[in-house]
Formats: sequence, structure tokens, C-alpha cells
Amino acid sequence: MNLRQNSEHDWDQLWIGADIATMAAGAGSYGTLTQAALATKGERIAWIGPASDASRIAATQHIPVHDVSGSWMTPGLIDCHTHLVYGGNRVAEFEQRLLGASYEQIAAAGGGIQSTVRATRDATSVDLRAAAGARARRLMAEGVTTIEIKSGYGLSLAAEQRLLETARALEHDLPVSVRTTFLGLHALPVEYRDDRRGFVDAVGGPWLEAIATAGLADAVDAFCESIAFTVDETDRFFRAAGRLGLPIHVHAGQLSDVGAARLAAQHRALSADHLEYLDAPGIEALALSGTVAVLLPCAYFTLRQDHPPPVAALRAAGVPIAVATDCNPGTSPCTSPLLAMAMACTLFGLTPEEALCGTTCNAARALGLGADRGTLEVGKRADFAFWAIDRPAELCYSLGANPCVGVVHRGQFRSELPCA
Ligand code: NIG
Ligand code: FE
Repeated sequence: MNLRQNSEHDWDQLWIGADIATMAAGAGSYGTLTQAALATKGERIAWIGPASDASRIAATQHIPVHDVSGSWMTPGLIDCHTHLVYGGNRVAEFEQRLLGASYEQIAAAGGGIQSTVRATRDATSVDLRAAAGARARRLMAEGVTTIEIKSGYGLSLAAEQRLLETARALEHDLPVSVRTTFLGLHALPVEYRDDRRGFVDAVGGPWLEAIATAGLADAVDAFCESIAFTVDETDRFFRAAGRLGLPIHVHAGQLSDVGAARLAAQHRALSADHLEYLDAPGIEALALSGTVAVLLPCAYFTLRQDHPPPVAALRAAGVPIAVATDCNPGTSPCTSPLLAMAMACTLFGLTPEEALCGTTCNAARALGLGADRGTLEVGKRADFAFWAIDRPAELCYSLGANPCVGVVHRGQFRSELPCA
């Protein structure tokens, strides 16, 4: 008889001695367990409890025991909004903006998203994959174990498919989990300059169907904004996504409030993202639909905006708040989730606990993965990060430091990364 298989404590590995910020709901500040231990079985968390109990149980088993005393352990970070796969960069526009041009003016002159579309279409698949991989590694070095990646810089069916395939391929290249999003309505491509209706019909029709059939997208997204797509156009696209059972994210209220958050709520979207411009009915609608508000402070910072999202009202209404990098070449050339957390605190007024919840439990929820990851609880994915810090708030405090000293993804230690 195999005693280990029949044991109540059937563990593969044990991590012992850390203070653990489980981020579990109702478990006190940060869900903290001091002097604790966590055991894994395969890619799942099998046990969490006091280090003293773990030592006793481990003495009866022959498993690897990792002494992580002195470190803090958190859920692996989840970057729930990125545009990681793109060609070129927009440093010239960055310079133009500092010389006085606005984001909207540059977009109207054919720059902005369109300039990244040109660079992305021109890039080879090998180059796209390598550049996205390099950016993913930087996120991973700061404890990220799941990355959401949007398309949206292809704007033809083939080019969008290539971006989604590249995003999926990263999961094979690197020890990280990827969720893909078809950002079908990002900008109107030049080929459809005189046929908006035709473009929206194509995106929500044959394009979406081909992408869904190939299993290339876990969700859809649209840029519903004065300079992009209207509420009606976005609604048509989301209806088509709903018919195919695809969940919804939306770029809402980044530059103005056109009612995108209310539309998101009507479609029971997983998330509404940006939300600098959001009225009271929009907040109420998000609260009722359980849609996560994803805040993107690095985009706000890069665009030098001065109208922060209504955090106090979102909090009062009970809207779950997540935080992400929005890594993209135009508005947020950022590959640091820790910087996004720091900015969410300093620029938007989140508490450090809200910011960490924003890149763990609420980020998981924003991707529809709340039951599987985002907190450290028995049965959830064994995705976690170790930090050389004295208290969790330090993750939001240091600017430019990276206290990540190790990461476990699906129960496996990521030793090949710079942080390990
Ligand atoms: O999240 N707002 C739309 N999409 C991106 C920016 C795209 C770009 O400027 O390239 C964002 O900010
Ligand atoms: Fe974005």
C-alpha cells in the first residue's frame, strides 16, 4: 500500500517560515498568516497553516522542504490589462506630446494607434514574439504569473490572428499563464476609412467567428471612446461576443465619459478599464453588475492626465478595483506592476492593501479566474511570489526597487528568471 497516497497530507513540496499575505477575503489585513507554511500538490495549493504544524507533518514525509524564513509570500501577481504584443515604439510621439501635442491630436493626424498598427504589420512574427517575450520577462521578474494580452494592433483578420497566436505562444516560451483578448474595435484601419459600418460588421461577424472557432481569444475588448468607437458600435460587437459566449472587457472613460461603463454593466462585462471619466450612474451600474474597475495609473501618468478615476465613489459603491500596467507603446510603456501599484496609491489614493488586491484577487476576478487564482487558499493554483520586504505595503512604497526573490508558477519554482 502506498501510504503517501492515502495520507491526509499528500504533499509534493513545502514552503516554510514565510509570512503569507494570502489576500483571502475576510481573513484580516492582507489575509496575513505569520510564521506560516504552504504545501503544494502538483500545480495546486494543498495546505496552508502554521510553520510549526508543517514541520511536524513534513517530518513524516519525504518531500522537498524550502526554508523561506524572513520573506513575505503573496499570490503571484496578475497583470490583467496589457497590449504586450506590438511592433516598434512611440518614443517620437512621447517627445511630441512633451512639445505640446495632445494624444488626441496625434491620433487625428494618423499617428497614435495607427502608427503602431503599421509597425506591427511590418514586423516579422519572430521579432514580435521575441519583443513580447522580453516584455513578459520583465513583468515576470516582478512576480507576475498570469498576463492578459490584447490584440488590437493588427486591424485585419490575419494580423489580429497573428497577434493572438503570438500571445498564446508566449505561454509555451515562458513559465507564465496567458489570457488572450480580441481587441476587435481599437481603431478604424485605413482600409475601412470610408466604411465604419462595414468594419464593425466584419469585426463582430466573420472575424470574431474565425477567432472564436480557432479558440484564439478568451475574451473580447473594445475602445469605446470619443476618438474611437461609439456605444452603439461597441454594443453590436458585444452582442456578437455574447452570442459566442465570450466574456467582455472594455476600454471605458479614458478620455471622456461616453457611457461605456453603463454599456459594460449591461453586458455584465468582466471589467471596465481606465474609468478616469465616470459618472454616478456608471458607478452604480458597475456595482450592480459586479464588473471589476481596472485602473491603469501608468497610462494616466504617461498622458499627464489630471482627472483621476472616482476611487472614493467606486469604493463606497463596492465596485471591485483592480490595477494593471496597460503595457502598450503609446500610453503606457510600462512593464512594472509594482510601479503601477505605487502609482495607484500615490496618484489615485488606493491603500497599499487595495493595490495588492488589485494585482491579485481582483485582477483574477477581472479575468474571470477568481475561483482559480488570485488568493493563496487550498485548492487554488500554486502561483506565488516571495519578496524580501518587511511588510506588504513596501511593494507599493519603493520606486524602482524589485524585492522579488523567487516565484512559483503552477507549483514549479521559476529558477531561470532574474528574480529567482
Ligand atoms: O489602453 N486606449 C486604447 N488603448 C491603449 C492605448 C493604445 C495606444 O495608444 O497605442 C490604452 O491606453
Ligand atoms: Fe489598454
